Amino acid sequence: MCGIIGCVGRGEETLGTLVHGLSKLEYRGYDSAGVALGGTGGLGVLKRAGEIEALRAALEGRSEFSGSVGIGHTRWSTHGPPTDENAHPHLDCEGRVAVVHNGIIENYQALRDELAGAGHAFESDTDTEVVPHLIEAELAAGSSPEAAFRAAIGRLEGSFAIACLVAGRESVFVARNDSPLVLGIAEGATYLASDVPAFREFTDRVVYLEDGQFAELSPDGWVVTDAAGAVVEPPIETVSWDAEDTGKSGYDHFMLKEIHEQPRALRQCLRGRVDELGGSVTVEELGAFDPERVHLVAAGTSYHAALYGAQLLCADGIPAEAHYAHEYASSPPPAAGATVVGVSQSGETADTLAATREARRRGAATLAVTNTVGSTMARECDETFYIRSGPEIGVAATKTFAGQQTALNLLTQVVSEATPDRDVVSALRDLPGDIQAVLDGSSAEAVAETYLDADAYFFIGRGLNYPVALEGALKMKEISYEHAEGFAAGELKHGPLALVTENTPVFATVVGDDELARKTVGNIKEVEARNAPVVAVTDGESDAGRYADHTLEIPRTNRRTAAIVANVQLQLVSYHTAAKLGRPIDKPRNLAKSVTVE
Ligand code: M6R
Repeated sequence: MCGIIGCVGRGEETLGTLVHGLSKLEYRGYDSAGVALGGTGGLGVLKRAGEIEALRAALEGRSEFSGSVGIGHTRWSTHGPPTDENAHPHLDCEGRVAVVHNGIIENYQALRDELAGAGHAFESDTDTEVVPHLIEAELAAGSSPEAAFRAAIGRLEGSFAIACLVAGRESVFVARNDSPLVLGIAEGATYLASDVPAFREFTDRVVYLEDGQFAELSPDGWVVTDAAGAVVEPPIETVSWDAEDTGKSGYDHFMLKEIHEQPRALRQCLRGRVDELGGSVTVEELGAFDPERVHLVAAGTSYHAALYGAQLLCADGIPAEAHYAHEYASSPPPAAGATVVGVSQSGETADTLAATREARRRGAATLAVTNTVGSTMARECDETFYIRSGPEIGVAATKTFAGQQTALNLLTQVVSEATPDRDVVSALRDLPGDIQAVLDGSSAEAVAETYLDADAYFFIGRGLNYPVALEGALKMKEISYEHAEGFAAGELKHGPLALVTENTPVFATVVGDDELARKTVGNIKEVEARNAPVVAVTDGESDAGRYADHTLEIPRTNRRTAAIVANVQLQLVSYHTAAKLGRPIDKPRNLAKSVTVE
């Protein structure tokens, strides 16, 4: 949801550093991009509608475009369409103040009216443009650049991570409220960005800014201050992953790389938490976690993980419900005694943060299950359980869904009244290998080829495989732009069956040969009787394969982990469908990885 970057101390490399950093932040938004360079002289600004490549091309041969400090932005439009004018950085009337912003300024219209009334001219539709004009007004009234920046920020309501250059000053001014912002600390250079990949190759030392904090980066170093202007000394943390983790490592797309990274990601999630010999589970972060009941709140793929987690907890006797975070925040259900668990890859999803904040407001204990160290959710919730999937760059969540499912299995084992289920623990240990077996032997690409001309794709499953059906459909929609729906298998005959034809393949996940599996096989027969092609994702224990046109096999394992493994087959079907249709898989239209607006 927009990415910002800035750097000081890179000399001649300033521009290249910004553009490279923006390419690492493109997952946050990619409809326009821009940079501003400054220092002791004036400002140079260039911005273009389109992906970073358009900006790169526009910068080609512009040797006059240089400066010792700089800021940059990649946009996901909220106010106004993706045009050159609406791209950031935004400037004041004289072109002496440049600002990049991630977030939403809620009172921008009132500020804009006030500034326009005082003679300021606006060139864009954005909320952001009020900021350089506010700073300009403060400078005109005699304030220093720091004081002008601070005063302007004090006028804003809403969410923001903002970076600003003022002509003639070799500094980047920074402020944060409700939008992520991290500093990168290196020898002789300092960086700021919405996320660490933007500068990871230059440093692994980071400072996560808190809401209400300001920073100034200059050739003399960096200083963080609080809302009152007092200097604070935030901890410097060390990032545990490498710069290469944010590259494609030879894969055509980040999504395919991340699908293939799942065995490694899950090993990391399980490491030190599952006792190989004793068959027990210990999660240090969950030491004090002993809920009476649990409300899981999340959005998108994370909501599907939450649904899956709620089923695990209920099965082990802990009352649990999964809620869409946006609904939970606006119409919270009675939650006496409930611990609220926010499930979020990024830890920055505004809807999910609103839900965990509402829970805290009502006095509930909160736990964040997230992938992102130092994220807002991790810092705001009482406890944090990291899924340790490593950086996920593709907009479509893949390895982090598996990580969330695995983490929620561990959580269930920890809080379950029963002693850890040895069968589940051993299945968790086998999980990376089971996924590797699917990756090595999947025929998903051939299945994708067969149904490339389908009118729509349907996904069904029961119990733990219901969230898998929803996730299968979401993945297909997001990256292939084809119509896809996921249903609880039992629900099909209550209406959606009317949509089923010989040109709507139905992907059914069937695990084991228990009553649930047999009922799902019954649903397969129902769609088959309507001539719909069936693809069974199955471990071969039931009759599903007999009635299916294609089978995508998974190893036999515990049904809890089977749902994680089965989903990998569906990820591959969506990936290959989208690839064959020539879709921009890592950057689907209209989407952004981290949705920081409600
Ligand atoms: O960062 P989060 O897990 O909170 O994000 C929630 C959703 O926005 C996210 O899962 C989205 O649905 C993905 N694009 C799914 O692939």
